Amino acid sequence: MSAKTEARCEEVRERLKAIGQDHVLQFCDDLDEVAREYLLDQVEAIDLDALPALIDRYVRDSGAFGHQGAIEPAPYYSTPTRADADWDVAAYRAAGEELIRANRIAAFTVAGGQGTRLGFDGPKGTYPAGAVTGKPLFQCLAEWIRASRERYAASIPWYIMTSPLNHEATLAFFEENAYFGLPEADVMLFQQGVMPSLSLPDGKLLLADHGCLATNPDGHGGSLRALHTSGALRDMRDRGVAHVSYVQVDNPLARVIDPIFIGLHASAPDSSGEMSSKMVAKASASEKVGVFCRVDGRTQVIEYSDMPEELACATDDTGRLRFNAGSIALHLIGVDFIESLMSGGRLTLPFHRAVKKVPHVDLSSGALVQPEEPNAVKLEMFVFDALPKAKSSIVYEVDRIEEFAPIKNASGTDSPASCHRIQTARAARWLEVKGLELPRGPEGDADCVLELSPLTAMWPEDLDRLSLPTRVDRGSRLAL
Ligand code: UTP
Repeated sequence: MSAKTEARCEEVRERLKAIGQDHVLQFCDDLDEVAREYLLDQVEAIDLDALPALIDRYVRDSGAFGHQGAIEPAPYYSTPTRADADWDVAAYRAAGEELIRANRIAAFTVAGGQGTRLGFDGPKGTYPAGAVTGKPLFQCLAEWIRASRERYAASIPWYIMTSPLNHEATLAFFEENAYFGLPEADVMLFQQGVMPSLSLPDGKLLLADHGCLATNPDGHGGSLRALHTSGALRDMRDRGVAHVSYVQVDNPLARVIDPIFIGLHASAPDSSGEMSSKMVAKASASEKVGVFCRVDGRTQVIEYSDMPEELACATDDTGRLRFNAGSIALHLIGVDFIESLMSGGRLTLPFHRAVKKVPHVDLSSGALVQPEEPNAVKLEMFVFDALPKAKSSIVYEVDRIEEFAPIKNASGTDSPASCHRIQTARAARWLEVKGLELPRGPEGDADCVLELSPLTAMWPEDLDRLSLPTRVDRGSRLAL
């Protein structure tokens, strides 16, 4: 062992001892130099000064958010197809298009999640999502970007956040697929940070093996830190990017570059241009989505589990849910705003705790334990917790069928099957207006499977340029 590594080891041990965590170096002497350096790197990447306070708040306590102040529904811009939409859609669209053409907009996809509910082996972005073609989620998003680049003659760089668990596999996938037709120089992949898993009830760091801490990706909110630490933010500055369009990897219908939303975010009188959101009307009071609210004059998302029942069920004079604005995890975020969130080098977002089963090394025997019961706390940050830091944040309503078909679960709600149904419903709606005859089942659903690429049409009116089939047979599959 080199003297340098020995000295580093002693220094880290002292810092760990001061916070009662030096057990993580218990097997250090058995490790070779490379393995020891790796473990020391891992420990040093943790904010050890902040750890005791985190343990007090999230392990010894529940870390629950108390909502102070009155909770009001957040106002929103109604979807242009609603009768009460009294805003100038065309003007905002033109303003957004100007920003896209001026290369001021980047796409940003968070793809570092573990996709445990879907149970798919591999990065979620590689999951086959096209209802007919089975094209992967990454390709669905890439096609929106390609279509927008072509339409606006803009560069639209694409930043993709992975995690240490899926980075190499994601990179290989992009290389195998020739970056889905995008210039490699305009696609940047970078890794998010991790948080150590903490044992219950005492908040000890856990070892995944003798030379490795048990960690988990730090949540989609960690993207706001990773944009900074990875150099992506600097790259955006160099390119003149002013706003990023944030989309999650699991929603193939996300309108990745949306001029109307961009126009609203950047130029609506009540938007500070810091962080804006899209919403859909909630399907029911019990739908498990976060809701946009106003607390102390600031817009924020309150998670369904934190929303008082009487508020979640409250209705207005017309019988509509008062708290109707469901979050669909689509945001526009200003580059200046992202920078401002890293005050003093630390991202100032709260954590959310999840109690999970985390395999770990038993310190007395040195053997790996697979717990049968949840034994540890995992900490994650959520991107929407940045919203209340914006001075004035707007919400824009979109139609669920047009933009929200997430793949979260293997079956049931938000599954591949429901995603295919929504893709079909959206394509059916667009094509029928253009005169296509579609077979309908007894429930009124299209009795066929349809998929519409943004390279074919980004808006219904784009179909006017095409010669379309006049009818689709019952049970058939059509990709356009
Ligand atoms: P989800 O909250 O749906 O989590 O992520 P998930 O990891 O994909 O799936 P489960 O909960 O394990 O089943 C929403 C989006 O945020 C990204 C995901 O990749 C997805 O695009 N995400 C989530 C990250 O990028 N990093 C994280 O640490 C967590």
